[in-house]
Amino acid sequence: MIHFELDSDRALFERTMDFAQKQVQGLVERHPDFYPMYTKEGVWRHDGPKWTHWCDGFFPGMMWLFSKYEGPESAEGRYWSDLAIRYSRPLEPRKFDREVHDLGFIFLSTYHRWYRQTGDKALNDVLIQAGQTMAMRFKEKGQYLRSFVSDDSLFIDIMMNVGIIFYAARETGDRRLRDIAIRHCLTTQRTLVRGDGSTAHEGLFDLDTGEFLRQTTHQGYRGDSCWSRGLTWALYGFGTAYEYSRDPHFLRTAEACCDYYITHTQPNGVPPWDYNAPADSRKQVDSSAGAIAAAGMLRLSRLLSDPVKGHFYWSTALRILRTLCEQYTAQNDPDWEGVLKGGVYHIHKVLGVDESVMWGEYFFIEALEHALRSANQQPRP
Ligand code: GLY
Repeated sequence: MIHFELDSDRALFERTMDFAQKQVQGLVERHPDFYPMYTKEGVWRHDGPKWTHWCDGFFPGMMWLFSKYEGPESAEGRYWSDLAIRYSRPLEPRKFDREVHDLGFIFLSTYHRWYRQTGDKALNDVLIQAGQTMAMRFKEKGQYLRSFVSDDSLFIDIMMNVGIIFYAARETGDRRLRDIAIRHCLTTQRTLVRGDGSTAHEGLFDLDTGEFLRQTTHQGYRGDSCWSRGLTWALYGFGTAYEYSRDPHFLRTAEACCDYYITHTQPNGVPPWDYNAPADSRKQVDSSAGAIAAAGMLRLSRLLSDPVKGHFYWSTALRILRTLCEQYTAQNDPDWEGVLKGGVYHIHKVLGVDESVMWGEYFFIEALEHALRSANQQPRP
C-alpha cells in the first residue's frame, strides 16, 4: 500500500493552485470567451498561427479541475463549474470534427469531467459521439488512427486521444470500437515505441499495402530522436490503454516510457525539448512535458501492483511538481499571463517557444489536484 504523502509540498502546491486560479480568472475577465493556446512573450491573445486546432478543451478543463479542487458544492466550486459549463458547451459540435485527431483532448478534459460531476446522460451521449467520430480515422491497412496531417501518418500524440474510443466502447458495449482502440495501441507500440522506451513522433505507412515504412517527426529534432513531449504522451496514454483494456503489455510499455523519462532527464525532472537535440539546443527545456509526465506518473503509481515501484513514480512525480512550482511558475512576473513558463509548442515553426502552453497548464493543474486529493483522502498513519 502506497502512502500518498506530501509533507512540506502541500503548502507549495496549494499556493500554486491559488495562483493558477488567479491567472485563469484574470484572462476570463480581460478576454471573455477566448480560448488560449500558447503565449507570445507571456500574453495569451495574439495573432500567431495555431498549426492545428486541438487545444480548446484545456482552458475549460482547468476550470473543471478548480471546481473539483474547491469542492463542487462550495461557492468557489460553483463559480468554477458555472464558468466551465459556459466554456465547455460551445465545444459540443466538435464531436463531429473529423479534421483533428484530438477529440480525446477536447472532450475528456471537458464533457467527461462535466458528466462525472452531474451524471447527466445527455453529456455522455456527446462523449460517445466523439469516440465514434474519432474511430472513423481508423485505417484498416496499417491498423492505426490517422493523424490530422495525412492518411499515411500516425502520431504518438494519438495515444492521448484513443481513450475516448475506449470510453465510447465501454459505454455502448460496441466491440468494434474496442477492437479499433486496441489495434491502434498495438500498432503504435510496434512502430513508434523503441526497445529502450524512447518514442518517435510520427510513423509513415504505405497506403496500398499498409506496410510500416519509417519513423519521422514534425516537432522533434529528427525522425530517430526522442521528442520529450511525445514520450510523455506515450507514458500517460499507454497507462490509459491499460486502464481500459487491462492488457499488461500496455502497462509495461507505459513503464518503459516512464523509465526512459526518469533515466534521461536531469535530476530536477524537467526534460529538454528533445533528448537528442544538439547540446546547445537541449538547454531549451519543455516544462509542459514535465507537467504531463508528472500527471501520467501519478496515474501509473496507482496502476502498478508493485508498491515499491508505485511509490517511486509517486515520489518522482512530486519532485517534478516541486521543480515546476519553485522554478517555472510566473508568480514573480506580474506581466506574464500564464501559469507555467518554459513550455514549447513547435520549435521549428517558432510557435510558443519558451512560453506558456495550454496543455502544460492543464496537465500541471491535473497533477497538482491529483496529488493534493490523494494526500487528503489517505487515512493518517
Ligand atoms: N499536437 C500535440 C503536441 O503539440 O504535443
